[in-house]
Amino acid sequence: MFHPLRVSAVEQLTDDAVAVTFAVEPELRETFRHTPGQHIALRRTVDGEEIRRTYSICAPAAEGAELRVGIRLVDGGEFSTYALKELAVGDTVDVMEPTGRFVLAPRAGQFAAIVGGSGITPVLSIAATLLACEPQSGFTLIRSDRTVASTMFLDEVADLKDRWPDRFQLVTALSREEQQSGLPSGRLDQDRLTGLLPALLPVADIDGWFLCGPFGLVQGAERALRGLGVDRSRIHQEIFHVDDGTAPAATAQAPAPAHSTLTATLDGRSGNWPVREGDSLLETVLRARADAPYACKGGVCGTCRAFLVSGEVRMDRNYALEPEETEEGYVLACQSHPLTPEVELDFDR
Ligand code: FES
Repeated sequence: MFHPLRVSAVEQLTDDAVAVTFAVEPELRETFRHTPGQHIALRRTVDGEEIRRTYSICAPAAEGAELRVGIRLVDGGEFSTYALKELAVGDTVDVMEPTGRFVLAPRAGQFAAIVGGSGITPVLSIAATLLACEPQSGFTLIRSDRTVASTMFLDEVADLKDRWPDRFQLVTALSREEQQSGLPSGRLDQDRLTGLLPALLPVADIDGWFLCGPFGLVQGAERALRGLGVDRSRIHQEIFHVDDGTAPAATAQAPAPAHSTLTATLDGRSGNWPVREGDSLLETVLRARADAPYACKGGVCGTCRAFLVSGEVRMDRNYALEPEETEEGYVLACQSHPLTPEVELDFDR
């Protein structure tokens, strides 16, 4: 559900990125309490057309914490262009409550993250909260950016280093610029990470890995970790955008039934509707229920997650659900198409 929130600060982070802070009234504090790593969907209507985008919360999660997100300009991106060029203090934006399972609730242990570009945003919240709340923890951040000037949250990350010099390790790789300290320039790909990680930290002793950024980086990092013997259950990932061409093709298409009906439960109310040819299950629900949850419609954010109660579906793509979630029976409604004449989804589970 969306809530209109007032913008209380807009800070320029780099030439092409801002941090936006929203004022949260006391009666909504509980609604907007987040677990480090979660994101919020923002909504804007232009010429009668609704645009939704998800942005990760960069602020630490703590009592009275701010609701602050990082927004980087995407070429031709309608929301990010608006955020960078027009959004100002005092404006009101519709904001959905925090969601997402790329999270770390503070606990004792050693954790590490490999991030690229704006992938730093949720990891900043994860690391800052962990270090502040759990004295028996350590965090290694390996970040990859094009240049220093394009690096988001430089000051905030430097602050972590100053405050927790023994428990926070920072390694920076710049792909397009030489640097005085840190790694030689160049992209962090699977081969490079395979050689680098064992030299930086005891890979087998890391309790959780957080990979976040563009598809290519996250995929390369995951392969490197798997190759180094890290168990899947310790690897968490969030993909910020998928460049066409690097994404795997959709799974082989099984034949769809000529007619199928979707039954869906949302906010305790159920309904059933025929699924039009080519429509996803999300589109089917949205025809009757404008409150159906979604943001990216691209299989990336996970906002449309629903439990498949009965029937079978095929998903075009899935960059949001962990393997355990799909095994439990969760699907992304925006990517799902029926494979059986009857399909039932529950958005409340
Ligand atoms: S709306 Fe983002 S994954 Fe479905």
